[in-house]
Amino acid sequence: MATFRAAASLAPQESVEHSALPSLDLLASAVLLLDDAGVIEHANAAAEHLLGMSQRQLEGLYAPACFADGEVLERSLQEGREERFAEKGQPLALARPGSDVVHLDTMLVVLHGQPWAFLLELREIENRLRIDRADQQWQQAAAQREVLRNLAHEIKNPLGGLRGAAQLLQAELSEAELLEYTEVIIAEADRLHLLVDRILAPHRTRRQIDAVNIHEVCERVAALVLAEFPTALEIVRDYDISVPELKGDREQLIQAVLNIVRNAAEALSQMPRHFPGELTLRTRVLRQITLGGQRHALALELLVIDNGPGIPEALREHIFHPLVSGKADGTGLGLSLVQAIVQQHGGLVSVESRVGRTEFQLLLPLSPTSGEGNAE
Ligand SMILES: Nc1ncnc2c1ncn2[C@@H]1O[C@H](COP(=O)(O)OP(=O)(O)OP(=O)(O)O)[C@@H](O)[C@H]1O
Ligand SMILES: [Mg+2]
Repeated sequence: MATFRAAASLAPQESVEHSALPSLDLLASAVLLLDDAGVIEHANAAAEHLLGMSQRQLEGLYAPACFADGEVLERSLQEGREERFAEKGQPLALARPGSDVVHLDTMLVVLHGQPWAFLLELREIENRLRIDRADQQWQQAAAQREVLRNLAHEIKNPLGGLRGAAQLLQAELSEAELLEYTEVIIAEADRLHLLVDRILAPHRTRRQIDAVNIHEVCERVAALVLAEFPTALEIVRDYDISVPELKGDREQLIQAVLNIVRNAAEALSQMPRHFPGELTLRTRVLRQITLGGQRHALALELLVIDNGPGIPEALREHIFHPLVSGKADGTGLGLSLVQAIVQQHGGLVSVESRVGRTEFQLLLPLSPTSGEGNAE
């Protein structure tokens, strides 16, 4: 959508038609361009797929006729002509011949100075359900994290005393055999100290907010992971280069993406030797998204997809909880840190996983809360 907007607002009329249409095809969301009467003049590739019709079949169709509740769209088109809104969100039900009704979130944008009068964006509501679920998971995990954080504080104080006492004892001992015991106490105290520090980390560090280019973040992470796992995987970049910069803490965002990507690389490195491990980094712009109760006109979607073994079923519901790990040497803090960082940026993280495909979705707001539109 941002691709379309940027092209449409910069290019003169003639070239708009040529420069904007190909980029529309790259968009993940389905887009229809309508004339003033509501007739479809162009459908992008995602719209062809969603509506189950080719571009040729769609061209010339009266758009409201594609929906079970077409009169709702008809009314909105009329309001749009009367300039009663600039863009309007509303749920619509798609009536595809021979298949079930598909429920959609739609956004109708009134265009000015363009060869088309309206732009209609369609998105399956499934994505919204996923966001709601991620929101719920976050609330649960936040409560758990609070308990864990208090516990971590309680552990830290006596731990200092324990370590100090072991050191004093060590200074008094001369027998090598006994010294070994104090060394174990000190080493274990240090390990626990480090763990507690990691649990407390996201709450303690000061954030430095800058304009962050998500693709720079992805490239940093890709370089780090390729250096660590040079043979286990290939990285596929599927970037929407029109994604605007977001406001956030660059280092923290690198940490969050790295934790997700490193997990994927670790999983892929466990696959048989010649397995073609593939990790995809995909960025897209989503419009009119509610994250944590806040409505945003634009949000960034970053998908990290791998073709590895999938998250063990027993862990799937809990992987964002602290100390949940499927690895013998894992601390299980990586994803809980991801969730904390993403939440501090006003976003959400969720996962869908099965054997052969694990997809982490990171949603981060790109714009301040919006009062525009009236979806939901
Ligand atoms: N892409 C993935 N494929 C398969 N399993 C995964 C994937 N991502 C996460 N997991 C599972 O989720 C678990 C939790 O991940 P998390 O990053 O929170 O902890 P960890 O990797 O075990 O330890 P840490 O990151 O703290 O060193 C992992 O142990 C692993 O079993
Ligand atoms: Mg990890």
